Amino acid sequence: MIQGHVLETIRGKLDIVELVSQYVPQVQRAGRNMKARCPFHQERTPSFVVNPERQTFHCFGCGEGGDAFSFLMKIENLSFHEAAQKLAERVGVPLAEAEGPVGPEEKLRLRLKELLDFASRFYHEKLKSPQGAQALGYLKGRHVSEASIDAFRLGLAPRSAGFLEAAARKGYSREELAKAGLAAPSREAGRLRDYFYDRILFPIWDAKGAVVGFGARAMGDAQPKYLNSPDSPVFTKGRVLYGLFQGLAAVRKARKAILMEGYMDVIAAHQHGVNLACAPLGTALTQEQSGLIKRYASEATIVFDSDSAGLAAAIRGAEVLLAAGLSVRIATVPQGKDPDEHLHNFGVSSFEKCLAAAVDLVEFKTERLLAGEAAPLRAEAKSRIAKQVLATIEQCPDEILKGEWASRLAQRLSISEESLRREMGKTEPANRRPGMLSRSPRPEAVLPEIDQQMLILIFKEPRLAGLVRAEDFTSAAARRIWQDLAAMNPLASDWAARLLEGLAQPVKTEASRLMILMAEMESSDPEGVLKAVLSRRRGLARLKEIEPQVLAMGYGRAMDPGLQDEYRRLLLELKGSRRS
Ligand code: UTP
Ligand code: MN
Repeated sequence: MIQGHVLETIRGKLDIVELVSQYVPQVQRAGRNMKARCPFHQERTPSFVVNPERQTFHCFGCGEGGDAFSFLMKIENLSFHEAAQKLAERVGVPLAEAEGPVGPEEKLRLRLKELLDFASRFYHEKLKSPQGAQALGYLKGRHVSEASIDAFRLGLAPRSAGFLEAAARKGYSREELAKAGLAAPSREAGRLRDYFYDRILFPIWDAKGAVVGFGARAMGDAQPKYLNSPDSPVFTKGRVLYGLFQGLAAVRKARKAILMEGYMDVIAAHQHGVNLACAPLGTALTQEQSGLIKRYASEATIVFDSDSAGLAAAIRGAEVLLAAGLSVRIATVPQGKDPDEHLHNFGVSSFEKCLAAAVDLVEFKTERLLAGEAAPLRAEAKSRIAKQVLATIEQCPDEILKGEWASRLAQRLSISEESLRREMGKTEPANRRPGMLSRSPRPEAVLPEIDQQMLILIFKEPRLAGLVRAEDFTSAAARRIWQDLAAMNPLASDWAARLLEGLAQPVKTEASRLMILMAEMESSDPEGVLKAVLSRRRGLARLKEIEPQVLAMGYGRAMDPGLQDEYRRLLLELKGSRRS
């Protein structure tokens, strides 16, 4: 846990405008705020606003909002702790002492990574030793260059095994070897054997540069063709992308990634200078993997094998990337079954042509479905295809894009856009996910106008929170925001950030929106305005309360001149306007 005062120091030295500008192009002044195009959804006109005064941001398009910490967490897909570490480093605040000692689990993970690194070097040396001649021959036959062998630290687990002894000599325990997925129980009870033998090894790096596991290819027809490390405390298949670490600098710079299917594809791509290439590890692309890409890139192109399994996987993968808010395209390699073969047979310029001809997911899916239909297209087929493609369109978090795609789909199928749009409201997205994606991009107002007004005034001057009472608010959401604010010391400079941090959706979105509106509001006397608002509000409430009693007087109820007077006075003060 990082302590509150450390966070306040970090926030005090941070400038959210500067931070945002590093990720978002063209941040421009708009009154007291700064405006830009939102990095969290695709849009043409800027609706992403940063408020330098309170150091918060809010997007009026997708509803995302928060402070510098939430911005960094979201855009780089970090945990709060990771974001804090980065920001602390950025402003030069030492975190080490605030963090406490390294726990036993973290210690184990460090030790396993060290062991896996040792293993990768051991296997790499074996490949280069006389024992590795046949394996090297195999790799050469597959056009893998020596530079690639070194860059990806390819290795050989020899038929005679032998890694376990070497690791034991280095002081690694049986338990550590088993936990790292390098040893497996042997048929002889109580003994361990090498997990990998007689295979070419592909060390798998995480994005930070640690070896966390291996892919291991059989050189002959042994099954399975690829044996991967079992999941371990440092390795989860769905959380890493092969080749991403090697290509990270390029991916970061271009803000683009290319997704392929296999280890060999990635190596061939990098060898040909296409170092934006990376691949999942033989499973369907996961949400975590698309989050990982989102951290470094905003665009992704998928180039999967051109067999039908590959095409289906490409569509599924593209849907996951799209839902994460990435701009996605799909490329096909018509000649050769995968990028590896294509690159070696036709060269990089041919491959780059394929990349340039990539189409977006909706077009790709539409064309693929159309290809399976007989011409002329029957009405039933049109309806079926429309529904299937709509299921994809629905997953896009960007409303503008959705509309554009719907028009194009209508045109392509020669159906009326009107009927397509009506259908659009009905289709259930194939795999909606929780979080930002399942939220409607334009959140409905959860706060009544009058509550908003009071909160804006309080945000303008937090000490005014003391003038307000819980019953002055009509909505529970506004009451919650006010209570949280009143409970913290509003003099701490980072109260706005802390307030947002403690709120859950959709109240958080409302609060971040109001902070932006607050900055836009000109007021020389927020206190006077708030007092006027409060007195009117309380007057109306009192009026409502006593009205039935006053009106009942004389009809079987005793007269109460005091109450009647109060009623008349209130009516006069509120000038007959009885809205509330
Ligand atoms: P491919 O069979 O397309 O692999 O499987 P590849 O990289 O093109 O390999 P070569 O060209 O045949 O040598 C794609 C990916 O699926 C995973 C691996 O990650 C592989 O790179 N896979 C495949 C497995 O995990 N196990 C298998 O048995 C096969
Ligand atoms: Mn292949």
